[in-house]
Amino acid sequence: MRIRAAVLEEFGQPLSVQEVELAEPQAGEVLVRLVACGVCHTDLYTASGADPSGYAPTVLGHEGAGVVEKVGEGVTSVAPGDHVVTLFSPQCRECVHCVDPRTNLCLAIREEQNEGYLPDGTARLSRGGEEIRHFMGCSTFAECTVMPEIALAKVNPEAPFEHACLFACGLSTGLGAAINTAKVEPGATCVVFGAGMVGLGAVAGCRLQGAERIVCVDLSAERLELARGQGATDLLEGGPDAVEQILEMTDGFGADYTFEATGNVAVMRQAVEAARMAWGLCTVAGVAGRGETLDIVPRLLITGRRVAGSSFGGVKGRDQVPQLVDRYLAGEIDVEPFLSHRISLDEVNRGFELMEAQDGIRSVIELDR
Ligand SMILES: NC(=O)c1ccc[n+]([C@@H]2O[C@H](COP(=O)([O-])OP(=O)(O)OC[C@H]3O[C@@H](n4cnc5c(N)ncnc54)[C@H](O)[C@@H]3O)[C@@H](O)[C@H]2O)c1
Ligand SMILES: [Zn+2]
Ligand SMILES: [Zn+2]
Repeated sequence: MRIRAAVLEEFGQPLSVQEVELAEPQAGEVLVRLVACGVCHTDLYTASGADPSGYAPTVLGHEGAGVVEKVGEGVTSVAPGDHVVTLFSPQCRECVHCVDPRTNLCLAIREEQNEGYLPDGTARLSRGGEEIRHFMGCSTFAECTVMPEIALAKVNPEAPFEHACLFACGLSTGLGAAINTAKVEPGATCVVFGAGMVGLGAVAGCRLQGAERIVCVDLSAERLELARGQGATDLLEGGPDAVEQILEMTDGFGADYTFEATGNVAVMRQAVEAARMAWGLCTVAGVAGRGETLDIVPRLLITGRRVAGSSFGGVKGRDQVPQLVDRYLAGEIDVEPFLSHRISLDEVNRGFELMEAQDGIRSVIELDR
């Protein structure tokens, strides 16, 4: 079938919205008609050429929500008409990681996905006979996509697509960092560095876990106000003095749980230093630049601080994204403030510009616009 899609032709150049060919879903695959898709830093990171593992041509986008149109042979967990959220982090439910409750890092299709192919090592996207690779196993800046069944979360159809799609990446990452990775306990004191999609999700996750005090740190007063709306009890302007200020706010001890959601290694260090001696846990969700390292004074660890990393918030996507969407529908998570701009597929490059200008939290492409 012919579909319209935003193609990355050359690194550093605007995406080109054009017609491409999408082949039928094969065994274990699903054709999804996309309705909404968030524009994320990772899309821009690859488009810019900064990502060393990036490739082109490819159809970008990975924060999709839509409707199942058709299923390939052997697909049983979704059927035509189902509403789904796309998962760049799949869940096969069979690999050694999937059957272990300690991780969400499914091993089933990692290599093929990293190289831009579906699990059988081929692509469904093409143009005039030339192959176009899939991005993060998703390629959702498009009217339709073909994805592995194991990379789709079936969600409650009552959830509006433009809200559901935010659970495909940053929001679930932040919520999960607090709920799954840190397992924040009721009454805890938490500090969240960064008030973008991930940090705000972490603030909401800390609140849902019953944290008593949630300090959010960011450079932008506007974003800190959004953090208050998600449950932050204290707001702090980021900078070199942030750790000192947090120690002052916590009787000199630091916080039970800290979260880093900026991608800046200097802030990661602050997040470790702001964790409480004896049991403070620092959860790192931000993605650092290539080759950068995190500098920690070992004494901080010996005196009881711990550091954990969190990919997609430790969320096992097919099981837990539907649960998070249900909690949103139950009124526990306020998603609307994250949706800053609604744009059309043709305006995808404007989505990148808005992100670079830090204008709003998320621009969402509405495919039916
Ligand atoms: N672990 C994962 O699976 C996963 C998933 C999605 C995104 N991420 C990463 O998480 C990070 C955050 O993503 P996002 O979409 O929320 O990004 P974002 O750019 O929207 O938010 C980052 C925030 O950090 C703030 N910040 C910058 N410097 C600061 C400082 N010195 N002190 C305090 N705050 C500061 C910025 O003002 C901004 O609000 C990125 O590194 C992203 O790549 C990780
Ligand atoms: Zn993303
Ligand atoms: Zn698996």
